[in-house]
Amino acid sequence: MEGYRLHLLLSREQIASLIENLADQISRDYAERELVLVCILKGAFMLLADLIRQLRVPAQVDFVRLASYGSGTKTSGRVEITKDIEISVEGKDVLIVEDIIDSGHTVRFLKDRLALSKPRSVKVVALLDKKARREVSLEADYVGKEIENLFVVGYGIDFNESYRNLPEIYYVTPENPKKD
Ligand code: IMP
Ligand code: MG
Repeated sequence: MEGYRLHLLLSREQIASLIENLADQISRDYAERELVLVCILKGAFMLLADLIRQLRVPAQVDFVRLASYGSGTKTSGRVEITKDIEISVEGKDVLIVEDIIDSGHTVRFLKDRLALSKPRSVKVVALLDKKARREVSLEADYVGKEIENLFVVGYGIDFNESYRNLPEIYYVTPENPKKD
């Protein structure tokens, strides 16, 4: 995409180390539990794939796709589900897997919705968390790294559907047309 510049934020090694840490905590907390990972499509697919291979507890997997409406990079807070989970989570321990939390609307919506299915618990793991941007009360239970207000891409995370393939995470800035 033109008019933008990508700056490295997290290398492959740094991402792997964040995920190793998350997997350690989750494996400890969910020993002897019936864990269901609910991955929010599309952004979290890479995190799910890497995280689940590091877990030392059995886990089932399901997917949701959520649409949030708003203009540009700002969400309106209105979230809709466009693809629901397909396995029953009643009585099970659900862990929502999200790439990045910003305003909090998306995960807040999904947490409340999953709670209607009477799971034993619903917690949240996010690779990145822009805590300062929160518009609703939402605390992730496992966070890879808190970041400032940057727009990031790579490792599953997109900008207009591009850059998901990048193995590293970058932040995006507008290209500065330099004079002289
Ligand atoms: P929310 O504002 O917490 O509801 O986040 C909405 C969605 O915006 C998240 O699921 C992310 O997929 C996406 N998002 C938030 N921050 C970024 C970013 O920096 N780059 C790309 N997508 C983002
Ligand atoms: Mg997302």
